Amino acid sequence: MSLTQPAIDTGKLDEIIKSYNGEKSYLIAMLQKVQEIYKYLPEEAMTYIGSKVEGLSPATVFGVATFYAQFSLEPKGKYEIKVCDGTACHVRGSMPVLNAIKKKIELKDGKMTTENGMFSLETVSCLGACSLAPAMVINGKIYPKMTAEAAEIVIDTLLKENV
Ligand code: FES
Repeated sequence: MSLTQPAIDTGKLDEIIKSYNGEKSYLIAMLQKVQEIYKYLPEEAMTYIGSKVEGLSPATVFGVATFYAQFSLEPKGKYEIKVCDGTACHVRGSMPVLNAIKKKIELKDGKMTTENGMFSLETVSCLGACSLAPAMVINGKIYPKMTAEAAEIVIDTLLKENV
């Protein structure tokens, strides 16, 4: 598994643009649709939309995409890890959990996804499970009361499932 860029289907992008009548005010909705397809926003797709929708430019689309946390500009890994760093989790030690995971999966500084495409790592502000703090979620499954050691065991288990 590796981080290869998908081929952009301009036909699909045209359909998305058309479904919003090419209205620039629906840019966020268009980008949400693109992200549903590719699981992130490929640069080519943003450039395409920026050049096709009247009143937009690729720079405008890129600006919007980078402003909203809901959009990812990098492909996500097979396992999407979200470590909560909301107040309840932070005071109970979410940072050591985050740092242990980052080290364990060998995530490079400034990157969200590992080079082998296996893991994505991000922080979120609250998972709505504060009584389970510090908590993390991997592909929708919640892992409660994490410690750095427990998080490493979880990652080891996922790695073993993929050998
Ligand atoms: S602050 Fe972490 S789950 Fe609410």
